[in-house]
Amino acid sequence: MLSVMPSDYLELLKLVLTGFIYPESSNQPVRAGKNVLRRALINLLRKYRLALVRLHPFDPEKRKIGRDWPGLAYTMVGIKRLDNVQFAIETVLAENIPGDVVECGVWRGGCAIFMRAVLRGHGSERQLWVADSFAGMPKPDIDRYPADKGGPDLSSNDYLSVSLADVKANFERFGLLDEQVGFLKGWFSETTRCARRGEVGLHGGRGRPRLPDRRLAGV
Ligand SMILES: C[S@@+](CC[C@H](N)C(=O)[O-])C[C@H]1O[C@@H](n2cnc3c(N)ncnc32)[C@H](O)[C@@H]1O
Repeated sequence: MLSVMPSDYLELLKLVLTGFIYPESSNQPVRAGKNVLRRALINLLRKYRLALVRLHPFDPEKRKIGRDWPGLAYTMVGIKRLDNVQFAIETVLAENIPGDVVECGVWRGGCAIFMRAVLRGHGSERQLWVADSFAGMPKPDIDRYPADKGGPDLSSNDYLSVSLADVKANFERFGLLDEQVGFLKGWFSETTRCARRGEVGLHGGRGRPRLPDRRLAGV
């Protein structure tokens, strides 16, 4: 039987989940946006199981720090942030800080998948919460969140919209969908009710997480 060190497994996972080992992962399917002709062409090609793809050269420096939007990858956060997630979870475990862990804003689930792998690698029984609308970004609400002013409106960007079924399927692909993974579907303001300030940090997404009535280890 192949013997793999847990640390080798986690390092390989980082490369796979970020798409780092696939140079073609930086290619982007062409999206129709509001362009009617382009939409017609994309739909026509789809009938023949063809797709338009814009070729982008792979930039390892950008991917390391999560500065591109990969076409093919399970997370867009990049290698360095996964290093940081690992460090944060291992610190929580080593220092016996009580609580569950959460990712708010998971996209295809890659970073959360990695979190589950780290927890499992350490034999931890903590729950992982996976919070997302599973329907993309909210419309900016300048009245309630003035800091959003001047920012992009990504609410109709379907690249950022990944369904709960797809995220679960991604967990399954890595053999990491189990009873220690809980899903919170909806806007953060509605799904994450009870966690108190200072008990949780965010990866991606925005909004203040208030989770079910469980204590969170700030990761
Ligand atoms: C930039 S992506 C997150 C990237 C992800 N952390 C990764 O590993 O690649 C933003 C995600 O946050 C979700 N999101 C953003 N704002 C949200 C909100 N207020 N409530 C629920 N989900 C939200 C979107 O649906 C999307 O999946």
